[in-house]
Amino acid sequence: MLLDGTTLEVPFLADLVTLADPTSEHSYLNYLRETGRIYEFYFYETFQIPRREYNDYLRWVVERLDAPAFRREVVDVRWADADASAADTGAGADAPGHYVVTARDPETGERDTYRGRHLALGIGSRPHVPEHLRGHPDADVFHTAAYRHTRERVLDADSVTVVGSGQSAAEVVADLLERQPEHDYRLDWLTRSEGFFPMEYSKLGLQHFSPEYAQYVYDLPQSTTDDLVANQDLLYKGVDPETSAAIYDLLYRRSIGTADPDVGLFAMTDVRDIAAVDGGYALDCHQWQAEESFVHESEVVVLGTGYERPVPGFLDPLEDDIAWDDRGRFEVTADHRLDVDLPGDVFLQNADLHTHGVGAPDLGLGAHRNATFVNRLLGRDAYPDDVDTVFQDFSVDAFVERAPGASRDGSETTVTTTDPDR
Ligand SMILES: Cc1cc2nc3c(=O)[nH]c(=O)nc-3n(C[C@H](O)[C@H](O)[C@H](O)COP(=O)(O)OP(=O)(O)OC[C@H]3O[C@@H](n4cnc5c(N)ncnc54)[C@H](O)[C@@H]3O)c2cc1C
Ligand SMILES: NC(=O)c1ccc[n+]([C@@H]2O[C@H](COP(=O)([O-])OP(=O)(O)OC[C@H]3O[C@@H](n4cnc5c(N)ncnc54)[C@H](OP(=O)(O)O)[C@@H]3O)[C@@H](O)[C@H]2O)c1
Repeated sequence: MLLDGTTLEVPFLADLVTLADPTSEHSYLNYLRETGRIYEFYFYETFQIPRREYNDYLRWVVERLDAPAFRREVVDVRWADADASAADTGAGADAPGHYVVTARDPETGERDTYRGRHLALGIGSRPHVPEHLRGHPDADVFHTAAYRHTRERVLDADSVTVVGSGQSAAEVVADLLERQPEHDYRLDWLTRSEGFFPMEYSKLGLQHFSPEYAQYVYDLPQSTTDDLVANQDLLYKGVDPETSAAIYDLLYRRSIGTADPDVGLFAMTDVRDIAAVDGGYALDCHQWQAEESFVHESEVVVLGTGYERPVPGFLDPLEDDIAWDDRGRFEVTADHRLDVDLPGDVFLQNADLHTHGVGAPDLGLGAHRNATFVNRLLGRDAYPDDVDTVFQDFSVDAFVERAPGASRDGSETTVTTTDPDR
């Protein structure tokens, strides 16, 4: 998704370190300084940097670190007690218990093991294609994550349909619209969502991506959190307002006079099946509000159907040591660790939407979360615990504590009246 013209959804301040430590040498601003572009950025005057530049910044940081080992797929993680560790690793009888991580080189199959008293799990998400839409040639029906590398194929087609109305689908639609006059394909955009709605981007709304809101969600009963997350699509799904405006404006310009942009947009439509037909694919569509079905044919289908975070198989050996909820998800501590019955911690990155809410995968909370982990590892507050970061309160306790007129039992309430007899 490193498409030209796309930007991060968060300000550059949500780099790897700045919100916890603005003086860190690994900051985005230091990247600009060291790569000789800080003045160019100063005149750019834009908080939301190109996604391709963020990628470049991450590469720059990685090159300055010794730790990363690439082309290592973790396939197994288990705990070795102090005694076992001596036999397992030759580390000596007094070695403390630790995790043993086995990784393989995907090309050679060669395996290495790594040891660590604690573990951080940051394996991200993977493209989600609903099961009933799978099984077609990758060149014809593919996820938005493959779009940049498969785009040439799309440009040759007579018709292309994009499914979904999150930011990924919108960026692909914007890109295809730009290229349409040169390549002359029909473009359709279908989504099951209620409309092509924008993602929340108001300042007060963005305060939901704060430590306070994450804590509030964490303290709710799990069933309430599950309902809440399922109904907060517009905070983290939906289309960036700028992308939405760019698509609209392009359509407007293409429709001047009697011109026809040769584009279709249709919401509230579940694509229930895809079947190969002569010259393309037939999409079995259902408009869920009107309860009407139809078939839509297209030569190429791009699926912007989102991402998923399955529990990784390499944790199987720890299954009995991990606490699971009744839906088979990790139990997570308030400070973003797996709830494990082992002496070593497992720090969890971006994988606790179900316990901490919409902020979990947001880059803006990464530095805060990492600061919490570092403080725990060091046993002291190397970084300040950011509290009171927003202008609103989320929990009743917080509001009652600050608002002079609010109390739990009404004891702060004074009844005023202008009637002297009362
Ligand atoms: C297209 C897209 C754009 C986004 N843009 C934004 C944005 O602008 N702002 C924002 O706040 N959030 C954004 N997000 C949300 C995103 O989830 C996070 O911002 C962020 O990328 C998550 O970082 P991560 O390190 O947890 O996971 P990832 O960036 O997904 O990295 C996970 C890494 O783990 C590796 N891995 C997985 N399994 C294994 C294994 N078994 N062994 C070894 N390595 C493994 C993967 O290869 C990958 O390198 C975006 C998400 C997507 C999909
Ligand atoms: N610029 C950026 O920084 C950027 C770019 C891309 C993505 N992202 C982020 O990455 C995350 C994932 O975004 P995403 O756009 O990939 O996914 P997404 O937001 O999860 O959107 C998936 C879309 O696909 C629809 N859908 C799923 N199955 C369908 C079906 N069978 N038929 C029709 N429609 C179907 C969904 O409808 P329902 O609403 O009904 O589920 C939804 O509209 C988001 O947090 C997003 O903000 C950021």
